Amino acid sequence: DEIKIFAPATVANLSCGFDVLGCCLDTVGDEMLIRKNNSREVKITKITGQDLPLETDKNVAGVAVKAMLEKLNSDQGFDIEIYKKIKSGSGIGSSAASSAGAVFAVNKLLNEPFSLQELIPFAMEGERLASGNAHADNVAPALLGGFSLVKSYEPLEILKLPTPPELRMVILHPLIEVNTRDSRSIIKQSISLKKAINQWGNLAALVSALYTEDYGLLGRSLKDEIVEPVRSILIPFFDELKKIAKDHGALGFGISGSGPSVFAMCRGEEKAEEVKKAIQEFYQEKEIEFDLHLSKIG
Ligand code: HSE
Repeated sequence: DEIKIFAPATVANLSCGFDVLGCCLDTVGDEMLIRKNNSREVKITKITGQDLPLETDKNVAGVAVKAMLEKLNSDQGFDIEIYKKIKSGSGIGSSAASSAGAVFAVNKLLNEPFSLQELIPFAMEGERLASGNAHADNVAPALLGGFSLVKSYEPLEILKLPTPPELRMVILHPLIEVNTRDSRSIIKQSISLKKAINQWGNLAALVSALYTEDYGLLGRSLKDEIVEPVRSILIPFFDELKKIAKDHGALGFGISGSGPSVFAMCRGEEKAEEVKKAIQEFYQEKEIEFDLHLSKIG
């Protein structure tokens, strides 16, 4: 009656897919230990690695699990231990990892009353608590793996997309905290038709590229004229980093979720290592503190 899981980090938006596209990282993530208890209560019993609330109703994992148990009319209690490796406010789905991980684990302990797709709305409740908006572009790939596309929010319809095998992600996290709530508040609420046309052209082409494993097309589609120009000002040397990544052969470069992490999508491990090294040297030169990861898409 106990389960230990890996709760993966995720990269949302992926340039042209604001609030609708995300992918799951293979090696970056938290660990969680969840067990049944006899108290009829959901308790967050331990959190290491980050200073986060233990109070169930203030914790994204607690809120997500409670939403799920409510739907089942269950008064089964659970103890949840969270070993955070993903930093809060880093832009790689820290809250989503906890919400998605918690509902995934509890579902397993209850003999899977829900499919993975059905768990998404419960995990989204954690996102609502974390950012004021129940977006699904982190929790969906955390639960389903690979790439996911939110076809619509009302009604919620989520599609899993294929992952071209040679893709690698380099993730750079400048060690400054950007709150999703704040970085959503600076985005304009309306856009021109011209920008919308460019954006949906790119998003459709990106989906096609994932199916056909067309890495060149993928690179030409990873663009964002809507959100990136506004949010990139929060990231130290964004334009320079993008140029360095592109010059070293990255397919695309953009903001991961609401930032401040950025991603470079690369074809092949070798190229990814090269991009990683170039970015690392640049930030070291600028004396900016950072974390850096290279991951497959999981
Ligand atoms: N799509 C969301 C945003 C993801 O960009 O605000 C937040 O991680």
